Amino acid sequence: MPARVQWDARGRAAQRTERLGRSGIRSPMRHNKNMTDQNLAVIVLAAGQGTRMKSSKPKVLHSLAGIPLIGHVLATARELDPAYVVAVVRHERDAVAAVIVDLMPEAFIVDQDEVPGTGRAVEAGLSALPAGFSGDVVIVSGDVPLLNAATLSGLIASHRHGSASVTVLSAHLDDATGYGRIVRTAEGALDRIVEQKDAAESELAITEINSGTYVFSADDLRAQLGYINTNNASGEKYLTDVVGLLRESGAEVRAVPVSESWIVGGINDRIQLADAAKRLNALIVRGWQLAGVTVLDPSNTWIDLQATLAEDVELLPGTIITGPTVIARGAKIGPDTSLESCEIGEDAVVRRTDATLAVIGARATVGPFAYLRPGTYLDEDGKIGTFVETKNSRIGAGSKVPHLSYIGDTTVGVQSNVGAGTITANYDGVNKSATVIGSHVRSGSHNVFVAPVRIGDGAYTGAGTVVRKDVPAGALAINVAPQRNMTGWVEANRAGTAAAVAAAAASAEVTD
Ligand code: UD1
Ligand code: CA
Repeated sequence: MPARVQWDARGRAAQRTERLGRSGIRSPMRHNKNMTDQNLAVIVLAAGQGTRMKSSKPKVLHSLAGIPLIGHVLATARELDPAYVVAVVRHERDAVAAVIVDLMPEAFIVDQDEVPGTGRAVEAGLSALPAGFSGDVVIVSGDVPLLNAATLSGLIASHRHGSASVTVLSAHLDDATGYGRIVRTAEGALDRIVEQKDAAESELAITEINSGTYVFSADDLRAQLGYINTNNASGEKYLTDVVGLLRESGAEVRAVPVSESWIVGGINDRIQLADAAKRLNALIVRGWQLAGVTVLDPSNTWIDLQATLAEDVELLPGTIITGPTVIARGAKIGPDTSLESCEIGEDAVVRRTDATLAVIGARATVGPFAYLRPGTYLDEDGKIGTFVETKNSRIGAGSKVPHLSYIGDTTVGVQSNVGAGTITANYDGVNKSATVIGSHVRSGSHNVFVAPVRIGDGAYTGAGTVVRKDVPAGALAINVAPQRNMTGWVEANRAGTAAAVAAAAASAEVTD
């Protein structure tokens, strides 16, 4: 029986991915250092339609903790270091194949023909292996993403130790509905597997199910696959029929229950997808907690597998960390913050913020209610404050955009302060242009910088200025019309209003 799996989400994440560059393009998954097992092949079944997802996207491309379902399965396959990995595709073949090539260029991709069923898929998969291959063949499904390498290694070891023709990974479920049932003899030996649709009443009561994960001895599998047919309720070639045939031929067949059934949970619909996401997220969060991250509310904190967090990071409720986000020591994130593919510096504070492809420097503060779009680069000790939107802009060390602003296609030097309510008008309807604000600039409240425009170092601008021309270093720019007070205008033009009454009372007070 496979050893109880100690899930190390962090280790697994680290093994399967290297962190993305700032561009968001995934670098190839790292290969582990074990020796290749020349007697091992893995066939990943991914040709099925996935009807129950009711999706225009192929089922195995649905995302779980930021990685497509099939990516999880390929990563697990890779950890076994098999000599061959074969993926069988058919439904949405090009989209699925493209993702497989991207994640695992060395995998063989083979097409299943129009004959349906897992047995036919495995026939196709075997055709990609060298004719003389007589090692062990692990069969896994592209829609069983939480199956980990430790469980599979345990299954392979058990198979080799027991010298069976097939070792099936089974599971005990409270509700076995939908699964193939493990039928055992009176002595408890595996007899055969019966599909739900073909099961007799008594068989439906069986709660030990076929997980769809197997280790077959290649020669025995090849020998029996030729005999299976489509005479069943689904009209499909069932791989599961090979088990019964092997037993009838006198070979030894075994079923070994998994330590915890969730490990082999298949994703057939969105409910199962959400359940798996929750399960995996809990493991990921737990992994980071053990690594020194404070998480106030684990059930309300989501972290993708590719994220990297340092010790003493603090995550407040409602934090969602996606993509290859990297968060440095001591940073405090949340509440209610989404970071997608961001880099956060040491001791930075990011509150109630939505940020994508942004870099936030050490000790910088962001939010509450900030929107950082791609290309935002806030340097050390900088600030992007309340109700501020930024895009493709670099804000230098110690510089601040504290309130109610839009900053786009802009560079700000160091130690500058951008006044409340500032807009960089970067788009003239045809072209996007840049605003360059120097260092130690003090711009007034409610400015518009009409790009392209440059503000020199140490310059000031007055409140309400619409800056259309470059401002030289050290100048004060001001272009607001001089103020005119038309005394008595309200009483003359708005007689009888509350304002006029108040104005009259105020002028009476002055004369008294
Ligand atoms: C299968 C098993 C069932 C087991 C269950 C576990 C068979 C006949 N039944 O049923 O005993 O309890 O998995 O989850 O094997 N696939 C192909 N080509 C096909 C059909 C399926 O590649 O023609 C792939 C699917 O993409 C999927 C896997 O095989 O990755 C399983 O197929 P699915 O249709 O989900 O099988 P189940 O009905 O769940
Ligand atoms: Ca399934």
